[in-house]
Amino acid sequence: MNNLNKTILALDVFDLRKAESLIKDLSPYIDVFKVGPILFLQSGKEVIKMINDCGKKVFLDLKFHDIPATVERAVKSARDLGVYSLTVHSCGGEEMLRLASSVENRPKIWAVTVLTSQKTTPEEVVKRAKLAKDCGADGVISSPLEIETIKANCGVDFEVVTPGIRPLQSGVNDQKRVATPESAVKAGADFIVVGRPIIAAENPVAAARDIYNSIKNISK
Ligand code: C5P
Repeated sequence: MNNLNKTILALDVFDLRKAESLIKDLSPYIDVFKVGPILFLQSGKEVIKMINDCGKKVFLDLKFHDIPATVERAVKSARDLGVYSLTVHSCGGEEMLRLASSVENRPKIWAVTVLTSQKTTPEEVVKRAKLAKDCGADGVISSPLEIETIKANCGVDFEVVTPGIRPLQSGVNDQKRVATPESAVKAGADFIVVGRPIIAAENPVAAARDIYNSIKNISK
Protein backbone atom coordinates (compact mmCIF):
# COMPACT_ATOMS: atom_id res chain seq x y z
CA MET A 1 0.00 0.00 0.00
CA ASN A 2 1.19 3.54 -0.61
CA ASN A 3 -0.28 6.98 -0.04
CA LEU A 4 -0.03 8.14 -3.62
CA ASN A 5 -3.05 9.32 -5.55
CA LYS A 6 -4.22 6.39 -7.63
CA THR A 7 -4.60 8.29 -10.87
CA ILE A 8 -1.54 8.20 -13.13
CA LEU A 9 -1.67 10.83 -15.85
CA ALA A 10 -0.52 9.57 -19.28
CA LEU A 11 1.56 12.53 -20.46
CA ASP A 12 0.74 11.85 -24.10
CA VAL A 13 1.95 15.23 -25.37
CA PHE A 14 4.85 16.14 -27.63
CA ASP A 15 6.05 19.23 -25.92
CA LEU A 16 8.03 19.45 -22.69
CA ARG A 17 6.57 22.85 -21.75
CA LYS A 18 3.02 21.54 -22.23
CA ALA A 19 3.93 18.56 -20.04
CA GLU A 20 5.31 20.90 -17.38
CA SER A 21 2.20 23.06 -17.26
CA LEU A 22 0.00 19.96 -16.98
CA ILE A 23 2.10 18.65 -14.09
CA LYS A 24 1.89 21.96 -12.23
CA ASP A 25 -1.83 22.44 -12.85
CA LEU A 26 -2.77 18.88 -11.91
CA SER A 27 -0.40 18.55 -9.01
CA PRO A 28 -3.08 18.43 -6.26
CA TYR A 29 -4.64 15.35 -7.85
CA ILE A 30 -1.82 13.43 -9.53
CA ASP A 31 1.42 12.10 -8.04
CA VAL A 32 2.66 9.80 -10.83
CA PHE A 33 3.11 10.84 -14.47
CA LYS A 34 3.48 8.31 -17.28
CA VAL A 35 6.15 9.04 -19.86
CA GLY A 36 5.84 6.93 -22.99
CA PRO A 37 8.02 6.64 -26.08
CA ILE A 38 6.72 9.79 -27.77
CA LEU A 39 7.59 12.26 -25.03
CA PHE A 40 10.71 10.30 -24.11
CA LEU A 41 12.02 10.46 -27.67
CA GLN A 42 11.33 14.19 -27.72
CA SER A 43 12.73 15.15 -24.35
CA GLY A 44 14.57 12.11 -22.93
CA LYS A 45 16.19 12.66 -19.57
CA GLU A 46 14.97 16.25 -19.37
CA VAL A 47 11.35 15.26 -18.87
CA ILE A 48 12.27 12.79 -16.13
CA LYS A 49 14.32 15.40 -14.33
CA MET A 50 11.55 17.98 -14.69
CA ILE A 51 8.93 15.62 -13.17
CA ASN A 52 11.25 14.72 -10.28
CA ASP A 53 12.09 18.40 -9.73
CA CYS A 54 8.33 19.07 -9.41
CA GLY A 55 8.30 16.53 -6.54
CA LYS A 56 6.37 13.99 -8.60
CA LYS A 57 7.09 10.44 -9.74
CA VAL A 58 7.83 9.01 -13.18
CA PHE A 59 6.24 5.88 -14.63
CA LEU A 60 8.47 5.14 -17.63
CA ASP A 61 6.30 3.20 -20.05
CA LEU A 62 8.79 2.02 -22.67
CA LYS A 63 7.70 -1.65 -22.47
CA PHE A 64 11.13 -3.28 -22.54
CA HIS A 65 11.32 -6.50 -24.55
CA ASP A 66 14.82 -7.65 -25.49
CA ILE A 67 17.44 -10.19 -24.52
CA PRO A 68 17.75 -10.51 -20.74
CA ALA A 69 21.12 -8.73 -20.42
CA THR A 70 19.89 -5.70 -22.38
CA VAL A 71 16.71 -5.40 -20.35
CA GLU A 72 18.72 -5.71 -17.14
CA ARG A 73 20.93 -2.79 -18.20
CA ALA A 74 17.90 -0.77 -19.31
CA VAL A 75 16.39 -1.24 -15.84
CA LYS A 76 19.67 -0.04 -14.29
CA SER A 77 19.65 3.04 -16.54
CA ALA A 78 16.05 3.82 -15.59
CA ARG A 79 16.96 3.45 -11.91
CA ASP A 80 19.87 5.86 -12.33
CA LEU A 81 17.56 8.41 -13.97
CA GLY A 82 15.29 8.36 -10.90
CA VAL A 83 12.30 6.53 -12.33
CA TYR A 84 9.60 5.25 -9.93
CA SER A 85 8.19 2.46 -12.10
CA LEU A 86 8.63 0.99 -15.56
CA THR A 87 7.12 -1.58 -17.88
CA VAL A 88 8.51 -4.76 -19.42
CA HIS A 89 6.70 -7.22 -21.67
CA SER A 90 5.80 -10.47 -19.92
CA CYS A 91 6.23 -12.25 -23.26
CA GLY A 92 9.99 -11.51 -22.95
CA GLY A 93 10.02 -14.71 -20.91
CA GLU A 94 11.16 -16.02 -17.56
CA GLU A 95 14.89 -15.31 -17.79
CA MET A 96 14.32 -11.72 -18.92
CA LEU A 97 11.77 -11.07 -16.18
CA ARG A 98 13.98 -12.60 -13.48
CA LEU A 99 17.07 -10.66 -14.50
CA ALA A 100 15.15 -7.39 -14.77
CA SER A 101 13.67 -7.97 -11.30
CA SER A 102 17.06 -8.81 -9.79
CA VAL A 103 18.47 -5.29 -10.29
CA GLU A 104 19.33 -3.69 -6.94
CA ASN A 105 17.31 -0.67 -5.79
CA ARG A 106 15.37 -0.82 -8.99
CA PRO A 107 12.18 0.99 -9.92
CA LYS A 108 8.94 -0.95 -9.58
CA ILE A 109 8.49 -3.34 -12.46
CA TRP A 110 5.03 -3.67 -13.97
CA ALA A 111 4.77 -6.33 -16.67
CA VAL A 112 2.45 -5.93 -19.62
CA THR A 113 0.35 -9.10 -19.72
CA VAL A 114 -1.17 -8.95 -23.20
CA LEU A 115 -1.56 -5.71 -25.13
CA THR A 116 -5.19 -4.65 -25.19
CA SER A 117 -4.89 -4.31 -28.97
CA GLN A 118 -4.27 -8.07 -29.20
CA LYS A 119 -6.79 -10.86 -28.87
CA THR A 120 -6.44 -12.98 -25.77
CA THR A 121 -8.26 -14.95 -23.08
CA PRO A 122 -8.52 -14.33 -19.33
CA GLU A 123 -6.57 -17.59 -18.81
CA GLU A 124 -3.64 -16.28 -20.86
CA VAL A 125 -3.64 -12.98 -18.97
CA VAL A 126 -3.59 -14.79 -15.62
CA LYS A 127 -0.83 -17.13 -16.82
CA ARG A 128 1.33 -14.13 -17.76
CA ALA A 129 0.52 -12.35 -14.49
CA LYS A 130 1.55 -15.42 -12.46
CA LEU A 131 4.78 -15.74 -14.43
CA ALA A 132 5.58 -12.06 -13.81
CA LYS A 133 4.88 -12.49 -10.09
CA ASP A 134 7.00 -15.66 -9.82
CA CYS A 135 9.88 -13.84 -11.52
CA GLY A 136 9.79 -10.98 -9.00
CA ALA A 137 7.83 -8.25 -10.79
CA ASP A 138 5.77 -5.91 -8.60
CA GLY A 139 2.65 -6.01 -10.70
CA VAL A 140 1.09 -5.97 -14.12
CA ILE A 141 -0.62 -3.68 -16.56
CA SER A 142 -4.01 -5.09 -17.46
CA SER A 143 -7.40 -4.12 -18.76
CA PRO A 144 -9.84 -3.06 -16.01
CA LEU A 145 -11.95 -6.12 -16.75
CA GLU A 146 -9.23 -8.49 -15.50
CA ILE A 147 -8.34 -6.84 -12.20
CA GLU A 148 -10.37 -9.17 -9.99
CA THR A 149 -9.16 -12.38 -11.64
CA ILE A 150 -5.53 -11.28 -11.37
CA LYS A 151 -5.90 -10.31 -7.72
CA ALA A 152 -7.66 -13.63 -6.99
CA ASN A 153 -4.82 -15.60 -8.60
CA CYS A 154 -1.78 -13.53 -7.64
CA GLY A 155 -2.81 -12.08 -4.29
CA VAL A 156 -3.97 -8.62 -3.30
CA ASP A 157 -0.45 -7.26 -2.86
CA PHE A 158 0.47 -7.93 -6.48
CA GLU A 159 -0.19 -4.58 -8.12
CA VAL A 160 -2.59 -4.09 -10.98
CA VAL A 161 -2.29 -0.90 -13.01
CA THR A 162 -4.99 -0.31 -15.53
CA PRO A 163 -5.50 1.92 -18.57
CA GLY A 164 -8.80 1.94 -20.47
CA ILE A 165 -10.42 4.25 -17.91
CA ARG A 166 -13.34 6.37 -18.97
CA PRO A 167 -15.46 8.54 -16.65
CA LEU A 168 -19.13 8.23 -17.60
CA GLN A 169 -19.23 11.61 -19.33
CA SER A 170 -16.19 10.84 -21.56
CA GLY A 171 -16.19 9.24 -24.98
CA VAL A 172 -14.27 5.94 -25.26
CA ASN A 173 -11.91 7.07 -28.11
CA ASP A 174 -10.05 3.99 -29.38
CA GLN A 175 -10.21 2.10 -26.07
CA LYS A 176 -12.30 -1.06 -26.33
CA ARG A 177 -12.43 -2.56 -22.87
CA VAL A 178 -13.20 0.33 -20.57
CA ALA A 179 -14.31 0.95 -17.00
CA THR A 180 -15.06 4.01 -14.92
CA PRO A 181 -12.49 5.18 -12.35
CA GLU A 182 -14.82 4.08 -9.54
CA SER A 183 -15.41 0.59 -10.86
CA ALA A 184 -11.71 -0.01 -11.56
CA VAL A 185 -10.69 1.10 -8.06
CA LYS A 186 -13.54 -0.89 -6.48
CA ALA A 187 -12.32 -3.94 -8.39
CA GLY A 188 -8.92 -3.47 -6.75
CA ALA A 189 -6.82 -1.41 -9.18
CA ASP A 190 -3.75 -0.02 -7.43
CA PHE A 191 -3.42 2.67 -10.07
CA ILE A 192 -5.55 3.82 -12.99
CA VAL A 193 -3.85 5.32 -16.05
CA VAL A 194 -5.79 8.19 -17.59
CA GLY A 195 -4.84 10.22 -20.63
CA ARG A 196 -7.38 11.83 -22.94
CA PRO A 197 -10.27 12.10 -20.45
CA ILE A 198 -8.08 14.62 -18.59
CA ILE A 199 -5.71 16.07 -21.19
CA ALA A 200 -8.34 16.58 -23.88
CA ALA A 201 -11.03 17.81 -21.47
CA GLU A 202 -12.23 21.38 -21.78
CA ASN A 203 -10.99 21.90 -18.23
CA PRO A 204 -8.26 19.36 -17.38
CA VAL A 205 -8.03 20.49 -13.75
CA ALA A 206 -11.76 19.96 -13.22
CA ALA A 207 -11.58 16.57 -14.97
CA ALA A 208 -8.71 15.43 -12.73
CA ARG A 209 -10.48 16.76 -9.63
CA ASP A 210 -13.69 14.92 -10.52
CA ILE A 211 -11.80 11.64 -10.90
CA TYR A 212 -9.95 12.28 -7.65
CA ASN A 213 -13.20 12.95 -5.78
CA SER A 214 -14.89 9.91 -7.28
CA ILE A 215 -12.25 7.49 -5.97
CA LYS A 216 -10.75 9.10 -2.89
CA ASN A 217 -13.04 7.35 -0.41
CA ILE A 218 -12.93 3.91 -1.94
CA SER A 219 -10.76 1.70 0.22
CA LYS A 220 -9.46 -1.65 -0.92
O1 C5P B 1 -5.97 8.53 -23.48
P1 C5P B 1 -6.11 7.24 -22.74
O2 C5P B 1 -6.75 7.39 -21.37
O3 C5P B 1 -6.75 6.14 -23.56
O4 C5P B 1 -4.59 6.81 -22.46
C1 C5P B 1 -4.23 5.58 -21.92
C2 C5P B 1 -2.75 5.45 -21.87
O5 C5P B 1 -2.43 4.12 -21.48
C3 C5P B 1 -2.05 5.67 -23.21
O6 C5P B 1 -0.78 6.28 -22.93
C4 C5P B 1 -1.85 4.29 -23.77
O7 C5P B 1 -0.73 4.18 -24.59
C5 C5P B 1 -1.64 3.48 -22.50
N1 C5P B 1 -1.97 2.07 -22.60
C6 C5P B 1 -3.20 1.59 -22.99
N2 C5P B 1 -3.43 0.25 -23.08
C7 C5P B 1 -2.47 -0.61 -22.77
C8 C5P B 1 -1.22 -0.15 -22.36
C9 C5P B 1 -0.99 1.23 -22.28
O8 C5P B 1 -4.10 2.35 -23.25
N3 C5P B 1 -2.71 -1.90 -22.82
